[in-house]
Amino acid sequence: MDGVNSMTANAPDLAAFSRIAHEYEALLYVDDAHGFGTIGERSPHEPCPYGVKGNSLFRHQNVPYDNAVMVAGLSKAYSSLLAFLALPTQLKEALKVLAPPYLYSGPSPVASLATTLAGLEVNRKRGDSVRADVWRKTARILDALRDLDIRTPNESGFPIIEIPLANHEEIDRAGLFLFEHGVYVTLAAFPLVPKNEVGVRVQVTAANTDEEVDHLIGVFTALREQFTLQQAPVTA
Ligand SMILES: Cc1ncc(COP(=O)(O)O)c(C=O)c1O
Repeated sequence: MDGVNSMTANAPDLAAFSRIAHEYEALLYVDDAHGFGTIGERSPHEPCPYGVKGNSLFRHQNVPYDNAVMVAGLSKAYSSLLAFLALPTQLKEALKVLAPPYLYSGPSPVASLATTLAGLEVNRKRGDSVRADVWRKTARILDALRDLDIRTPNESGFPIIEIPLANHEEIDRAGLFLFEHGVYVTLAAFPLVPKNEVGVRVQVTAANTDEEVDHLIGVFTALREQFTLQQAPVTA
């Protein structure tokens, strides 16, 4: 299963799945490409609700690694072509001789090892303040969408914000509208996602400035005038 979901930004209740895996002596396989580097263990001193250290959803939800295989790619938070598995030793020994992709693929590029080492250093020195900044900017966008009555599945506050369209056939025009107004986002078109989930996906990064967030909010305000977006559910 996914850790932090690549479209909704929401996360499963890992503890519940971990308990089931334990009960049935099964292995829980979690791909946390989107959580690793962004969310981590909770701390009384955490500068934001993402927690500290960016050491993944397992640590964020304080779930043990027993009965678990955790995989994370570093192509998101660390911008590097590299991935790792954290897994029971016995399984690791088996995979080293049984897994064809491990046996036959080339190693990660040396340049990627270098960017990962540099990224880990940034994480150690100022990761928590960078994450707090990403959290604050994400919250600004989520607040603005709420004010604009625009629906997003994001309930976690993590920095992936999908905005579904009411009419999936408008995806090309909506993407073009955003691009022409200086906003480049990922388009999720049918059949990549079901028709009612077709939309655009914004990924907030530490490199985005507050001015860019202002600009994005302005462009979404205009988008709402031009296209039919899904409305936020009425809350009490
Ligand atoms: C959960 C998950 N794992 C892996 C990947 C792919 O990562 P990579 O391109 O580094 O292989 C993605 C892509 O976004 C993803 O959402």
